[in-house]
Amino acid sequence: MSGQSDLFSNPAPKVPALVASKIEALRDQLNQWAHEYYVQDAPSVPDAEYDRVFQQLQALEGAYPELVTPDSPTQRVIGAVMEGLASVRHAVPMLSIQTETDTEASGAQGFDARVRRELGLSDADPAVEYVAEPKFDGLAMSLRYEGGRLVQAATRGDGEVGEDVTHNIRTIRQIPLVLPADVPPVLEVRGEVYMRRADFEALNERQREKGEKTFVNPRNAAAGAVRQLDSGITAQRPLSFFAYGLGEVTPADAGGPDFGTHYALLQRLKSWGFPVAPQVCIAQGASELVAFHQRLGAERDALPYDIDGVVYKVNRLALQRQLGFKTREPRWAVAHKYPAQEMMTRCEAIDVQVGRTGKLTPVARLAPVFVGGVTVTNATLHNLFEIRKKSVRVGDTVIVRRAGDVIPEVVGCVPAATDDAGRPLARRPYVANFRMPRACPVCGSSVVREPGEMNHRCSGGLFCPAQRKQAMLHFAQRRALDVEGLGEKLVDQLIDGGVVHSLADLYRLDLARLAGLERMGEKSARNLLDELEKSKHTTLARFLYGLGIRQVGEATAKDLARHFGALDAIMDAGVEQLLQVSDVGPVVAESIHTFFAQPHNREVVQQLRACGLTWEEGAPAEPAAQPLAGKTVVLTGTLPNLSRDAAKALLEAAGAKVAGSVSRKTYCVIAGAEAGSKLDKARELGVPVLDEAGMHGLLRGDR
Ligand code: IVH
Repeated sequence: MSGQSDLFSNPAPKVPALVASKIEALRDQLNQWAHEYYVQDAPSVPDAEYDRVFQQLQALEGAYPELVTPDSPTQRVIGAVMEGLASVRHAVPMLSIQTETDTEASGAQGFDARVRRELGLSDADPAVEYVAEPKFDGLAMSLRYEGGRLVQAATRGDGEVGEDVTHNIRTIRQIPLVLPADVPPVLEVRGEVYMRRADFEALNERQREKGEKTFVNPRNAAAGAVRQLDSGITAQRPLSFFAYGLGEVTPADAGGPDFGTHYALLQRLKSWGFPVAPQVCIAQGASELVAFHQRLGAERDALPYDIDGVVYKVNRLALQRQLGFKTREPRWAVAHKYPAQEMMTRCEAIDVQVGRTGKLTPVARLAPVFVGGVTVTNATLHNLFEIRKKSVRVGDTVIVRRAGDVIPEVVGCVPAATDDAGRPLARRPYVANFRMPRACPVCGSSVVREPGEMNHRCSGGLFCPAQRKQAMLHFAQRRALDVEGLGEKLVDQLIDGGVVHSLADLYRLDLARLAGLERMGEKSARNLLDELEKSKHTTLARFLYGLGIRQVGEATAKDLARHFGALDAIMDAGVEQLLQVSDVGPVVAESIHTFFAQPHNREVVQQLRACGLTWEEGAPAEPAAQPLAGKTVVLTGTLPNLSRDAAKALLEAAGAKVAGSVSRKTYCVIAGAEAGSKLDKARELGVPVLDEAGMHGLLRGDR
């Protein structure tokens, strides 16, 4: 436009320079975070913070559309191909879904209203049918099958080009390598690779024990595992998969299946052997979407994996086609979020807590923050080495995670803002690094750390009131002696006031003494005494578990009780005898043996018995009661009806030890589809091979 026409026409309002530079800054920030997240698998801020800045940018771009550029983070799916993994161009782009960040019911209502408007429906028209699904917090994967065989697995990347991770995806047990005969010649199945919470916790525990880097959350652990160059590493990081859609399917017209609805498509995927989330359901109209959002929200903590929201999809595929797409997102789907499970807050102080086994746990005291549905003020930092690795110091902004029933933890630190040269923008007062105390903060005993151990411990044992308190709470808990009403506050009073010193003292409490305690009163005192009286009749397994022997959880306590039948037999058992118990390995056996070798522990047991604690004792378990006792069995391949975990559990319940490799000592191999080298080895060694039906026979004791 010439300068002259500017003089005569109405010039567009000038964009303030400030807005342009703000937009630039937001884009840079988002690109930086996206790089950390997608390329480095090491995000420095929680998702909620990314979302907040993303929305800020969206709002500014909405107000100044002339500033929108094709390469803005709002205009494309960010991601990059890492060196070392080959690129894959997706035959059908992998789309993203629009996110409804309004976590209230209105999020679902807004989506339904948009769909109805775009379909030209009036209030008189019937409800639109949707499919409601969990929004898995993992990473999107496209699995390509040709002639029914898995030929390629690719990450989403930027939506057009992803990374070839076939070698790693093949290690995921839930993903079929071969499909039934009725699948189309070319079939791309799309879904989410994720890590179950329990697998994630166990992985981090192993990493911690080895002194290696821990993962921030299951999604990052999964992303890291998927993008390994060495699939051996992936295989050690158990991944899972849920299918939720299709990519390319050919022939698309004539031979291609017409599923009619998204729900039918999911059912078909299930019949082809893909895991489909059990919560997936059909919902009529907004009200049922809202109900689903609420129902799954209530179940969220108890799910075995992380979800960060739900996804709604228009069910009829014809309507999906009619609605079409808006640049990067389909108009027929939306993600409706839940409150974030990771948030940022300030670390106000770092204290040290002493646990039941004397372990010293550094705990961050936090500025209160709402995360995972509750207000959190304390979060574990695990141990000294974790603090060092995450370089957390008092005054830092930290990322707190609370997911499921897992106690809140500090998973990372947000680096201080820096200028282009990497200099901190704001000076902050010098804060010394955290140090483990040399003496127990509770009893003053010296703090020790065994060579090769990550944890510091108080050496005071039951002399340490903190350990005594925890031991007492453990003893009284529901799964142990089940003394209702003996909670933290009361135990604090009892021990700090010198009212009780040992577990047995609990059974020597009298009404007057109890009723005189703070916030007690005669009624509660009487109730507690009744509870204590009731707890005297218990089971051997509960009693054993209640003793709080290191390494002896509930399951092991049950195994021990079943195996030996009587307490004296356990107390006098040598390590060799203890090793005969199913699931008891050298570390556990050693721990039990050491525990009962200590005279003061025997004394505790003796006193409790003298106070009248009783349980039924029996003869040692008949080995014949378990058809596979003492036998080693190997599982390989995918069984038609049972997951690996389920098969393993059944075999173990029958007394078998399930091993990972075949040897001459293997009793038999149970093989499913796609069994590989283990099957070959079994044949080579002449070890019997059974299928799933054969396994059931074995469990019934047919062999
Ligand atoms: S459908 C065209 N369904 O969310 C829609 N995606 O931003 C394609 N995700 O990258 C996706 N759970 O990784 C779909 N039940 C679900 C999902 C889901 C999680 C992820 C997926 C995708 C992202 C969309």
